[in-house]
Amino acid sequence: MKKYTSKELRETWLNFYKSKGHVDIGAVSLIGDGTTGVMFNVAGMQPLMPYLLGEKHKDGVRLCNVQGCVRTIDIDSVGDESHCTFFEMMGNWSLGDYFKKEKTAWTFELLTEVFGLDKSKICSTVFAGNESAPRDEETAELLKGLGIKEENIFYLGKEDNWWELAGTTGTPCGPDNEWFYPLTDEKCSDNCDINCQCNRYVEIGNDVYMQYEKLEDGYRPLKNKNVDTGFGFERMLMFLNGLRDVYRTDLFVDVVSYIESQTGIKYGEDAESTKSIRIICDHMRTALMLIGDKNGIVPSNVGAGYILRRLLRRAIRHARKINFNTSDLREVANIYIDKVYDKAYPLLVDKKQYILSEIQKEVDKFNKTIELGTKEFEKLLSGIEKKIAFLTSSNPDYVAKPEDREISGKSAFRLYDTFGFPIEMTIEMAEERGIKVDEDGFREAFAHHQELARTTSAGAFKSGLGGNGEMETKYHTATHLLNAALKRVIGESSCQKGSNITAERLRFDFACDHKMTAEELKETEALVNSWIAADYKVECQEMPKTKAVEIGAEHQFLDRYPDIVTVYSIGEVSKEICTGPHVKSIGELGKFVIKKEEASSSGVRRIKAILE
Ligand code: ALA
Repeated sequence: MKKYTSKELRETWLNFYKSKGHVDIGAVSLIGDGTTGVMFNVAGMQPLMPYLLGEKHKDGVRLCNVQGCVRTIDIDSVGDESHCTFFEMMGNWSLGDYFKKEKTAWTFELLTEVFGLDKSKICSTVFAGNESAPRDEETAELLKGLGIKEENIFYLGKEDNWWELAGTTGTPCGPDNEWFYPLTDEKCSDNCDINCQCNRYVEIGNDVYMQYEKLEDGYRPLKNKNVDTGFGFERMLMFLNGLRDVYRTDLFVDVVSYIESQTGIKYGEDAESTKSIRIICDHMRTALMLIGDKNGIVPSNVGAGYILRRLLRRAIRHARKINFNTSDLREVANIYIDKVYDKAYPLLVDKKQYILSEIQKEVDKFNKTIELGTKEFEKLLSGIEKKIAFLTSSNPDYVAKPEDREISGKSAFRLYDTFGFPIEMTIEMAEERGIKVDEDGFREAFAHHQELARTTSAGAFKSGLGGNGEMETKYHTATHLLNAALKRVIGESSCQKGSNITAERLRFDFACDHKMTAEELKETEALVNSWIAADYKVECQEMPKTKAVEIGAEHQFLDRYPDIVTVYSIGEVSKEICTGPHVKSIGELGKFVIKKEEASSSGVRRIKAILE
């Protein structure tokens, strides 16, 4: 098996698929437009969804790229050897062009002839079939024909070999063919195969046969039979170099040795400090990618900016924990930009001074309060310990209750509000000491504070919260109204498929199986304007995702949201998970006028509308 540098692997992927007639479409921004509730690009196929559903792509029917993704849902798992909040996905697509025969052959060729894997060891899994789609014997036969051993082909059910975006409808999906390879030849038992829990096999990638559309109550065939391939870049790099730890790949080695040299810590020797080094490596990489993105963001207390703040502050805390000078976090970013991502992300090089200075600003800001905040935190902890000691000393039979070992919501809010401790950080710090945090109490204190802040600073939204101008903010809110009106006029099935906002107009894509009639359009417009005339207030509330679903808040990509979401409600008219910002009350929107209704892709219509 040949060893690869990250730069070589990137090139190899793109060159291989270009040699098969694919166009490298490059990567899109990591950052969502703030209207769908999806903060970040979470999958290589996400930007291609309209094309998988049938829209024509300007670069043709064979596409490839290496696409950055940010997934913060697993942020707490970062610190182990493989989880990352930023990762890249090597992808290629057939939009209704080639299908299983070519795809299996090309993946096989890449794995065996280019990467040098032993075909007798390759394992592959295919869909076992269910009421929605047949058993994928066709792929299994093709694999056998290529030389994959019959005993290395496994049929698995929907939980393993069906790919879809959970919690969504109107999205492309289908059975997939996953590829596995053993890390060693030593079996843990006679039955050790890809289903074994011993981690001998790694999943190296998958080919999804996107040929269905997910509906509320089932699946229907798409117009096109598409292919959507995704191979994780970091994982593949690790695997091809015979490693079991992504932080030992060349993406991270320079940063890791820099941290080692500055702290005298040896990576891998001690579990706690190794975890801190990984957290710094991961969070700083994601942070610089978000700041240096073409739609770059900066740390703030709302939406994506808050996630960025959390990443940076967690990195700062772990730097302090291992005595790594926090001013050297800037150098960490510098190393990534100069040595690792200079060729693939030239924009980072152009924006380097800006990125480094934004990082330093956040470091300075947090360093001002982290010491006092940590003292406050220690005081809270010793208060808890004293209380338990007192209770036990006055009653030897006393057994401490869970609530005795809890930081109150108010105290956690004070750490957040006065010292800038993201709640997740307080929870993590408390957990390290066996203490819980009253998260509901924190949310209550937070909501109460927001209420106060809203009444005292009516102009907050106008000041450009979230980087949006006054008109964009108005269009964001109008988009929610349009979404709600369409549900009433066309029916519940008319869910949002996409949204794009400028200072001049809104553009909204939604599921609808027919061209809207003039009456329907008129009715939609009239509904929105009647709500505007009623001047409903816009309320905003943070809550756990599960609660948001319970109360019926609209959402587009449920499993991609963070655990705590923001729900915007407009009177009784609309409730949506969204990152905002929005106007305070809708009377200020003016007159809503639909300018155009047209097809967007199969089963999806598009409305352009303005506010006069
Ligand atoms: N869409 C597939 C994935 O993300 C390729 O794994």
